[in-house]
Amino acid sequence: MPAPIALVPLPRSAEWTAAAPFVVGADTVVVVGPTPAETALGELATELLSRVTGHRLRAVQDPGAGAAIRFRLVPGGRSEAYTLTVGADGVLVEAGDPDGLAHGLSTLRQVLAQTGTELPAGRIEDAPRFAWRGLSVDIARHFFGPAELRRVVELMADHKLNVLHLHLSDDQGWRIDLPSHPELAELSGASAVDGDPGGFLTGGDYRELVAFAAVRGIRVVPEVDVPGHVNAALHAVPELTPDGTAADVYTGIEVGFSKLAADLPATEPFLRDVFRDLAALTPGEYLHIGGDEVLTMEPAEYARLIDMAARAVRDTGKKVVGWQEIATTPLEPGTVVQFWDPREDVTPFVEAARAGAQLLMSPGSKAYLDMQYHEGFPLGLHWAGYVALRDSYDWEPTTLIEGLPADAVIGVEAAVWTETLRTMDDLTTMLLPRLAAVAEVAWTDGDRRDWDDFAGRVAAQAGDWRARGIVFHPAEPVEWPR
Ligand code: ACM
Repeated sequence: MPAPIALVPLPRSAEWTAAAPFVVGADTVVVVGPTPAETALGELATELLSRVTGHRLRAVQDPGAGAAIRFRLVPGGRSEAYTLTVGADGVLVEAGDPDGLAHGLSTLRQVLAQTGTELPAGRIEDAPRFAWRGLSVDIARHFFGPAELRRVVELMADHKLNVLHLHLSDDQGWRIDLPSHPELAELSGASAVDGDPGGFLTGGDYRELVAFAAVRGIRVVPEVDVPGHVNAALHAVPELTPDGTAADVYTGIEVGFSKLAADLPATEPFLRDVFRDLAALTPGEYLHIGGDEVLTMEPAEYARLIDMAARAVRDTGKKVVGWQEIATTPLEPGTVVQFWDPREDVTPFVEAARAGAQLLMSPGSKAYLDMQYHEGFPLGLHWAGYVALRDSYDWEPTTLIEGLPADAVIGVEAAVWTETLRTMDDLTTMLLPRLAAVAEVAWTDGDRRDWDDFAGRVAAQAGDWRARGIVFHPAEPVEWPR
């Protein structure tokens, strides 16, 4: 029996046999179907598998070809599920949708990153536990541009995550150019924490990122955070302030001081414009309205503003996501409430779920990957505690909030806030290896997860990360290969 391959996240079932492996060679072709999604997947597969094997593979549509890695859509089955079958004469990835094929490709790539060119004979049957498996990236405190975000998307795809949540606005900067309000990016795009360089995504950058992510099975959920965390908007659009004076640029890292005002005539049109523009740029189903940490507003005004933002989103045909604070206001069924601060009373989340909301689990003490790994770690914060690798792994999303109906949990999302993170190396140091842990919580059934087993499998990814120049934190107590 060949040595087991270390896959993260762990698949539903993987059976390797002692039969001869399939060896990728210079004449191996990638076979895909004719639809645009399959053609794009074929291009991605040749790119990724060529890079990892060192052979230049070609994609063809003629299934009569010889030694081949075949991707085939088969009707039916669960969304995102796939099977991967390897025999001496070829590889077959089958799925009911292109996202499933993309996940099968990620598995293939992960195997080859460990073996070189050999795919052990066997069969994997795999499907996700949760429908929403996300990563939220704060590009407002420090800006991370298209090239950096593509690398983040690649890391997500490696671990079969499927939602890139972009935190596009905050007190310190506004990161997306919107046609209805070009002054937002123009006047508030350049600022960032500590006076560091800012930046913003053009509409074209954003659309290209959406397409880059889509081929990899990932949807983008854009967030414009209201009614707090809005200093950058108040700087660019003075009509949003009570006295009509533009707010000063803010480069500190305090929270909770800035806010929209429900009674100002400019407020509701602003919300409608912004969410209409975001909806027009975004093919995915969801827009995120923020809603967190509005520390100096009466609950009634907060509820009015959340309702305004939520209506603005729903009127575009999209569904609403908001941080956990929105659960203190009346919500339409189907709204996604993102749990983040475990210090708060959980009663409103349970009540919101009973009234039809869905809960997205991002507990700060487990899934906030900007938390320091341990005391004295040179990057990150620790308001939610220190988050060791095992903390990110050893938790159960459906029992975290007492009294929550298990079927109210739509999924799991990691988050990385960037007050202290300036560079791509900073970002990946915080993400890896903890993102792999959260991804397994989101993908793999709870009864198949085991910390010791994970610790061994995650260590086996180090060679791949190093080969790609990705900086990670060799977190304890895992024994990382040298
Ligand atoms: C948050 O961390 N303020 C959502």
